[in-house]
Amino acid sequence: MAIEGYNLHAWYYELSHASFTEDIDFYKTKLDPPPQTILELGCGSGRVLLPLAEQGHACWGLDNAREMLDLARKKIERLTGNLQVTLIQGDMANFNLGRTFDTIIIPHNTFMHLNSVEWRPCLRAVRRHLAPTGRLLIDLINPYQLLALEDQPTPQIEATFIDPRDQQEVVQSASYSLHEEGMAFHLNWLFEKKGEKTAEISAIYTVRLPHQLQLGLKQTGFQLIKMGGNYDGDDFVEASERLILEATRSDR
Ligand SMILES: C[S@@+](CC[C@H](N)C(=O)[O-])C[C@H]1O[C@@H](n2cnc3c(N)ncnc32)[C@H](O)[C@@H]1O
Repeated sequence: MAIEGYNLHAWYYELSHASFTEDIDFYKTKLDPPPQTILELGCGSGRVLLPLAEQGHACWGLDNAREMLDLARKKIERLTGNLQVTLIQGDMANFNLGRTFDTIIIPHNTFMHLNSVEWRPCLRAVRRHLAPTGRLLIDLINPYQLLALEDQPTPQIEATFIDPRDQQEVVQSASYSLHEEGMAFHLNWLFEKKGEKTAEISAIYTVRLPHQLQLGLKQTGFQLIKMGGNYDGDDFVEASERLILEATRSDR
């Protein structure tokens, strides 16, 4: 499902996530030494993909938001070295790149953007694109943390940062609520300058519990080899910060 906010406000997404780098080292430690072939689904502006390409991996990124990909292209132009990056505009629930990859990653909650009709087709497509000994990594918000949240209907300030285009302060606020008996988390980000709204990103995150994800992986040809709870590699427990799935092909 296309999320219009990412297209309209790619710039604000990029600015608000510029300082979030914790997960990048996690992927670097999970990957075998370069050169590996990597596919990132929902690569956005290349926040994760480009540092991996800088390590010498051959990186492919797929995203359905043209403006996020345009930002990634601009960043690539500014990078030095002979980076191998291929960017494709497409739907992660329905793609065919005609090749396989050593590692496929779906970072930073992106898999939660897929609804109940889309998530299994996405996994099937991943399975077709994964090399026989390849690995899939999916990083999600811990669903139990989402279910424990009280609705926040009034936007609350989450962060402030400077827009380098005009040096003005941007105030980012968030409101959120759970719907569909707790299975859909609706998040709205509001960006304001001097009290005036300049952008808004609305997204729905589908909440899936560990056993549902495990079953979905099994039914689409994967074997779950680890459920991590953070970027340090600790196992998942109900109080974990993250839910990080690591899977291989079940026929390996
Ligand atoms: C939370 S952002 C993550 C971006 C990037 N992976 C990162 O970690 O910074 C989610 C990205 O997924 C993309 N996206 C959402 N649904 C998609 C779909 N069905 N197919 C392809 N991309 C999708 C959005 O356009 C957005 O760039």
